[in-house]
Amino acid sequence: MTPIADRVRELRDAIRHHEERYYIHNAPEISDEAFDRLLHELEHLEAEHPELVTPDSPTQRVAGRPAEGFATVEHLVPMLSLDNAYNEEELRAFDERVRKGAEPGEAPVAYVAELKIDGLSIALTYDDGRLVRGATRGDGSRGEDVTINVRTIRAIPLALRNGPPGRIEIRGEVYLPRAAFDRMNREMEAAGEPLYANPRNTAAGTMRNLDPALVSKRGLSAFMYQVVTGASHLPVTYQAPETHAATLTAMRDWSLPVEPHWRRCEDINAVVAFCAEWADGRRTLEFETDGVVIKVDDLALREKLGATAKFPRWATAFKFPAQQAHTVLRRILVSVGRTGAATPYAELEPVLLAGSTISMATLHNADDVARKGVRDGDTVVIEKGGDVIPKVVAPILSLRPPDSVPWVMPTRCPVCDSVLRRDEEEVVWRCENLSCPARIVGSLVHFASRTAMNVEGLGASLVDQLIAQGLVRDFADLYALTVDQLEPLVVAPRDPKSDRAVPRKLGKVGRNVVDQIARSKSNDLSRLIYALGIRHVGEKVAATLARYFRTMDQLRAAPVEALQTAPEIGPVVAASVRAFFDEPRNGVLIDRLRDAGVNMTSQAPEPTDVPGPLAGKTFVLTGTMASMTREQATEALERLGAKVSASVSKKTSYVVYGEEAGTKLEKAQKLGVETLDEAQFHALIMKSTRNQEP
Ligand code: IVH
Repeated sequence: MTPIADRVRELRDAIRHHEERYYIHNAPEISDEAFDRLLHELEHLEAEHPELVTPDSPTQRVAGRPAEGFATVEHLVPMLSLDNAYNEEELRAFDERVRKGAEPGEAPVAYVAELKIDGLSIALTYDDGRLVRGATRGDGSRGEDVTINVRTIRAIPLALRNGPPGRIEIRGEVYLPRAAFDRMNREMEAAGEPLYANPRNTAAGTMRNLDPALVSKRGLSAFMYQVVTGASHLPVTYQAPETHAATLTAMRDWSLPVEPHWRRCEDINAVVAFCAEWADGRRTLEFETDGVVIKVDDLALREKLGATAKFPRWATAFKFPAQQAHTVLRRILVSVGRTGAATPYAELEPVLLAGSTISMATLHNADDVARKGVRDGDTVVIEKGGDVIPKVVAPILSLRPPDSVPWVMPTRCPVCDSVLRRDEEEVVWRCENLSCPARIVGSLVHFASRTAMNVEGLGASLVDQLIAQGLVRDFADLYALTVDQLEPLVVAPRDPKSDRAVPRKLGKVGRNVVDQIARSKSNDLSRLIYALGIRHVGEKVAATLARYFRTMDQLRAAPVEALQTAPEIGPVVAASVRAFFDEPRNGVLIDRLRDAGVNMTSQAPEPTDVPGPLAGKTFVLTGTMASMTREQATEALERLGAKVSASVSKKTSYVVYGEEAGTKLEKAQKLGVETLDEAQFHALIMKSTRNQEP
């Protein structure tokens, strides 16, 4: 083997080792930068020696794109579901049944108890230790081939360490870690978009997304819990262990992710104890779990017990009691956020639930209220699920007051009395009055938030006061605030523990807030753009706009077409940015911010610091290429100094088209813009890359 091939191997082993430390053990040994360096070195060597690239290289996690939808996959061994047990009694009844099925019968049976991961089940096929397929459960007999997305999940090895030769199928659960879910929702919130409901649905939706590059960014993870036996396709060479505990250990040794809290229980008493422990303990986990799966440890006994049409007889799922409480719903109110979204919520008689006092619960939207049929005065069941915000589950009809009437969504904004509207296909009603005080409070809180202008201490209760006292009407007013104005204010932040508002004088904190506001003047332009709260402009889009347009003036002056030449800025975002700056009041606001000394330039590195061989050229990509994803093509072009735009205009230099190219290709032909097929595109990239080399 050449020294280069040796180094490539060494890098792959090291990268897999660190992926395991990071994604499976949650205990990294090196920094993210050091990890990236290893990955870059490998990418570099592979680029220079394409003959050394193998499908299981860590650089090949995002590779290709399904042309149209996912293929159907047949499960040779059906993917069954689990029977449920909701309390100790039902657990003991399960144990009874198992012991009856065992010979000689009455002796205790040992189990393995595992946390039940709230995600979607997945079946992985490894051929001679290489991941060749990942399939969803589907209806249990037929699922979808989602290999391309499974490969992006870094917890899942592309190659097993010392795995058995031949074909083997491993099953488990793909899930979205809480932190990744929270991050996604923060981004949605910042962009004024509706939030994702829960990690499980989001994970399932992500797995079926047709863009692996997007899937890769979502941060999915996985735990595996089963080696499929009993199918004709199992390798003859694989000597299956005798117990489930040994199977879990073997999987771990092959570098598969196995949820580490599983426990072997000598009898059902130990299982009951495990379930009780985790009913509370689950809150500390970095993933959602809705119960415990209890499995017979002895694999021969499992075989003997067999399965019904739906469930194995050797396993059951203990469902944690949902954290619920009953209370009176005083009334349904509507709150208005910074985007104008009017959301109904329930004002409750305070009640203790899972360690905190709850006096409010979300009702999501008007359709949700109608579906649940809750009314003012109802006694309701509330629940604290995976998410922190409690929700109203259902009314208790037998306790409904005789004079109650169905709730109707108000037609006017409860704060400014403007007429609420909703688009045909939207569930959200909106107040469209930009000067609505509720929208102003929401926008100011967003403006000051950590990821925007980062003014510590300027939360909702202080903003409420500033507006109530007439000290602030918009962002620019913040910069005129003085210590003398702030110190005497009385704010009433909510104590998260008791959920009660606790009034106090701002006092010395006032000075800090003024200092923080002053400091925020020197923030980069990207923070300011984000802070303005332009619809569809989240942190990432704001950073791109700042990097490409450099100054607020240039951004403000950019026509829609120019906005779209920035990478990943599509027509919707471009139109929204344009509309924002076209509103004269927004122009005045920005001028006042500038006069107050707020920085209006970007310090981020220029996108075209090094004028590449394709500098000044604008590309539009359309259709699907066989050899690379759109992201890879964009990256290659940007590296060479070109810009990639979403829409075709006369100024477009080239339109690159793949399979199933649509209207963009037609438009290019109409406008006489040069077009490149995949081969011509590759030729151009190769030629330009050569030109770029010193
Ligand atoms: S064992 C024969 N173990 O729960 C069934 N399932 O409600 C084998 N699940 O479809 C399943 N965590 O998607 C098993 N530790 C675990 C699990 C688990 C989550 C899911 C799985 C299954 C569903 C049944």
